[in-house]
Amino acid sequence: MQKLAAGNWKMNGLAASLAEIEALATAHPTPGCDILICPPATLLSRVSDAALGTSVQTGAQDCHPKDSGAHTGDISAAMVRDAGGAFVIVGHSERRADHGEDDALVRAKAEAAHDAGLIAIVCVGETLEQREAGRTLEVVGGQVAGSLPDDATAEDTVIAYEPVWAIGTGKVPTTDEIALVHADIRARLTARFGADGEGMRIIYGGSVKASNAAEIFAVPNVDGALVGGASLKAADFGGIVDAL
Ligand code: G3H
Repeated sequence: MQKLAAGNWKMNGLAASLAEIEALATAHPTPGCDILICPPATLLSRVSDAALGTSVQTGAQDCHPKDSGAHTGDISAAMVRDAGGAFVIVGHSERRADHGEDDALVRAKAEAAHDAGLIAIVCVGETLEQREAGRTLEVVGGQVAGSLPDDATAEDTVIAYEPVWAIGTGKVPTTDEIALVHADIRARLTARFGADGEGMRIIYGGSVKASNAAEIFAVPNVDGALVGGASLKAADFGGIVDAL
C-alpha cells in the first residue's frame, strides 16, 4: 500500500504559508508516498489551487455530518470537496476534547466524508491517564469500533493513532508500544472488514519529526504519519516525506 505523510496545520497558517506548499511540491515532485496537507479551512481553496498538478494533495481538519443547513461556523464534506480537498480529518483528539465530540459523531462525520467522495482520516488515541491505568488497547479499540462506518474500505478510510500525551509534547511512545497498538488496531480492522481491514492505512501521530520518522516508519503496521508542528515548514515536513 502507498504510505501517507499527512500534515495537519491545525489553527496555523496565513496566506504567506502558501509558499510552503510550493516549496514542498517543488522539492518532492515524485515522492514514494502520498503527501497531504490539511490547512485551516480559510486556506483550503488557495492551498488546493497551489497544489493542483503537483504531488501534494489537500484536505480539511474537520467536517459537519450534515450536507448543508443552519450550522454557523461549520463546513460540510461537500464543501471540502468543492474547495479541492480529497481528505478530511475527523475525530482529532483536540476536537474530541475542545468540542465534546464522541465516537457516534465522529462516525457520522466519516460517513458524510465518504458520501462526498472524501477519504476520512479517523483519529483515535488514549490520554496519559488512560495509558497509566493500563487501558490503552481498550480505549483505542473502543474508539475504532465506534468511530468507523460499517462500510469503510481500504480506499476511503485511514486510521490515525495519536496518543494524546504525545501530541505537541516531544514525547513519543517506544517503538514496541507503537507496534503493540498498531497490531491491535490491525487485528480489529481485519476481523471487522476482512481484506479491506488488512489494506487500511494506520498512521501514527504525536511528535513525529524528521529525526525520529525513520525509526517510527520501520515499525510493523505503521503506514505513515499524521504530523502537526513539523508539517508547518516544507523543510521539516520534507524530511519526514523522505523517511517514508
Ligand atoms: O494532527 C497531528 C497531531 O496532533 C500531531 O501533532 O506532530 O504537533 O505532535 P504534533
